[in-house]
Amino acid sequence: MTPGAANVLCALADLAATGAKEITLLKAGAPYSIFVVRDQAGVRAFENSCPHARLPLNGEADTFFDVRRTVLVCVNHGAHFDPVTGLCLRGPCKGERLRAFPVTADGESVLIA
Ligand code: FES
Repeated sequence: MTPGAANVLCALADLAATGAKEITLLKAGAPYSIFVVRDQAGVRAFENSCPHARLPLNGEADTFFDVRRTVLVCVNHGAHFDPVTGLCLRGPCKGERLRAFPVTADGESVLIA
């Protein structure tokens, strides 16, 4: 993977507008998309790959939450995911999970854990 300096993925401030930010890393030379989310439970990240059809969840940049920021929504077929656990709560992959990606918050930055 090729993250930014000292494994910094983004600033916490980058998550303010939508509660989430898509980040593309390199894994074995190929693009690898993850997204970082921040809510009252803290900061987490998931691979940007829906367990239903392995498509990216978002249609627009950094748009993963529903309008109330209570669930993550896959734009393709409407699956809803718990933003803390990544568990699919509703939709064609109900009971499956987003793959977690290890991150941690340090000061004003989000780092690869
Ligand atoms: S690809 Fe996400 S619900 Fe179908």
